[in-house]
Amino acid sequence: MRDPRYDILFEQVNIGPVTSKNRFYQVPHCNGGGYRDPSAAAAMRGIKSQGGWGVIFTEQCEIHHTSEITPFIELRLWEDKDIPQLRKMSDKMKEHGSLAGIQLAYSGINGPNLYSKEVPIAVSAMPIRTFTNDPVQARSLDKSDIRDLRRWFVNAAKRSKEAGFDLICLYGAHGFGIFQHFLSRATNQRSDEYGGSLENRARFVNEVIADMRDAVGDTMGITLRVSLDETIGDLGFSNAEVRDFIEMNRDLPDLWDLAQGTWEDCSGPSRFKEEGAQEQLVRGIHELTGKPIVGVGRFTSPDVMARMIRTGTLDFIGCARPSIADPFLPKKIEEGRIEDIRECIGCNICITGDMTMSISRCTQNPTFMEEWRKGWHPEQMNAKGESSNVLVVGSGPAGLEAARALSERGYDVALAEARTVLGGRVTRERLLPGLAEWGRVADYRTYQISQKANVETYFNSALDANIILEFGFEHICIATGAKWRADGVSRQHVVPMPIDGAMPIYTPDDIMEGRKPSGNVVIYDDDHYYMGGVLAELLANEGCTVTIITPAAYLSEWTVNTLEQHAIHKKLAQMGVNIVLNRGATQIAKSHVVSNCVYTGMMQEFGCDAVVMVASKAENNTVYHDLKAREDEWADAGIKSVKIIGDANAPSPIAWATYAGHRYARELDGDDIGDALPFRREITELAMD
Ligand SMILES: Cc1cc2nc3c(=O)[nH]c(=O)nc-3n(C[C@H](O)[C@H](O)[C@H](O)COP(=O)(O)O)c2cc1C
Ligand code: SF4
Repeated sequence: MRDPRYDILFEQVNIGPVTSKNRFYQVPHCNGGGYRDPSAAAAMRGIKSQGGWGVIFTEQCEIHHTSEITPFIELRLWEDKDIPQLRKMSDKMKEHGSLAGIQLAYSGINGPNLYSKEVPIAVSAMPIRTFTNDPVQARSLDKSDIRDLRRWFVNAAKRSKEAGFDLICLYGAHGFGIFQHFLSRATNQRSDEYGGSLENRARFVNEVIADMRDAVGDTMGITLRVSLDETIGDLGFSNAEVRDFIEMNRDLPDLWDLAQGTWEDCSGPSRFKEEGAQEQLVRGIHELTGKPIVGVGRFTSPDVMARMIRTGTLDFIGCARPSIADPFLPKKIEEGRIEDIRECIGCNICITGDMTMSISRCTQNPTFMEEWRKGWHPEQMNAKGESSNVLVVGSGPAGLEAARALSERGYDVALAEARTVLGGRVTRERLLPGLAEWGRVADYRTYQISQKANVETYFNSALDANIILEFGFEHICIATGAKWRADGVSRQHVVPMPIDGAMPIYTPDDIMEGRKPSGNVVIYDDDHYYMGGVLAELLANEGCTVTIITPAAYLSEWTVNTLEQHAIHKKLAQMGVNIVLNRGATQIAKSHVVSNCVYTGMMQEFGCDAVVMVASKAENNTVYHDLKAREDEWADAGIKSVKIIGDANAPSPIAWATYAGHRYARELDGDDIGDALPFRREITELAMD
């Protein structure tokens, strides 16, 4: 039963000529699949329709080949040929009564056109602005280009209608869409009627929306996505100017879609941004317009959502990541199952799928983008197989997810944990600076299995092969995690580096267990994800003088893909951490680290009292190998299979572990598929000539 406090979230709202059944609005988000994996992307949106969202959007969809953002894989609506795959998506979105929206993008100054080889055209001529600093410049739009561009938007709108969409979002946010480029003085340096005053800078968006209304406005709602602050001061499209713009153009779109700032701000990770972080920037805008507003903020709490509506801050609750982590979020609120919500942890692993042009993953929802590829549903497991019980050894993210998903399938599960608390690495990492929300990985699963009669949990149970062989479980799932290495082996060193025994060496595990260095500390980071930077923050907070040395060109280099790198470097630099880039460590001496320049090999010594080794991890796989060595005893012990998953198999980010746990549970008692591909994929249609 729904809590009446949340009734307000289930009110209908009109967006131009169409009506949303509730206030849950999945704002545009990409998925790394885009035009390459259309059926996978369509099925993912279909699941959200089932999950109760009132509005579901595509990711950004390029409207014309003269502006494309290769290598990033989004959607394309360049010609009629693109309509069928988008029709498949809109059909899926509407299957359970959601409105289907498409986000139309012309990237202008952001599109290097590496695929189409067209000369980029932008509001003003300047170098292309992307993540990769492509050495390409755009020429500026002349009057005939502007006429062409208006027509291309109309063509795209007509094609969107033919593809079955109810809503169009014009992309002018995050610095990415041409509407923002016109509106911002930073990217609009024109001296004609499209540049200069705010009225002039707003001319193009007014023209396009008027054109679109004529073309499709009788049946489609037209929304405009702008950022609430370009975050480059007065030169950019500041929050004050955004307010002026909305006030001057009160009823321009059928809905204002207000993103936060840059993409890094808007999709801010939990390490740097709390839930509802946009609130100050958006408050009061409602009074400037008669049209509904959607805003974002990693909303997972129905109380916060209801407050946003009740206070008149927002009309729609915009969600990207919370809808990825739990596509059934609206349904769960509607059914009064708040404690079943799988809350987003704000890790931004979902964004890495886009940034690496692979396919997205979600730490909390391992079924994300596997709905079509593997037929995985976030709320329904496949039927139970012939076996009846499983012993899961280890309750980190892999073991917990395996236990949860196996119990959903109906197996009797025994979960053995060596310590006194469930969650493995997550229970320790959640205590590190900025990572508290990551604990939701354990909290969600711990609660879910606590509700299951078919899961028994055993603490203080560090099992060995002898005991496991005595127990008589049919299937053994080893999820015993990994531990950080202290010998420096990672990428620079494939064998242990020379270390003087007089220098105290700490691993991240030591620090998380409470054994901490003091004084002058060097962190050697050849891991490149979050751990080195997080420990630098922790130790600096605790009074150490910290130097972090990394062979990479960027601090916490891989976090470029989670949109955190900038914030991490800024924070540590502001805290006074000495950040040393492009340098490795060749030797740990008695009182210093000997560091090499990765380019010249020139050596430098960094004196210190202790070294923290953030290098690689070693798998805790002894029990697994002991069991494998005694395979001839399995039949007598009633064992049908022994498998190793997660970090114990191959250490990786937490998302890899939850995926491994889920996969184990799905595939237990399954058919042996031999050499066949374990997922579906689509291949490009071959031309006839
Ligand atoms: C994986 C991912 C891809 C995104 N892609 C787009 C996009 O194509 N267009 C867009 O306007 N915003 C995009 N965004 C930004 C989201 O729409 C949203 O504004 C932002 O993530 C904040 O909302 P949230 O806190 O609910 O995630 C993306 C966000 C994520 C997480
Ligand atoms: S990957 Fe992380 S940030 Fe993205 S939706 Fe999942 S839990 Fe949230």
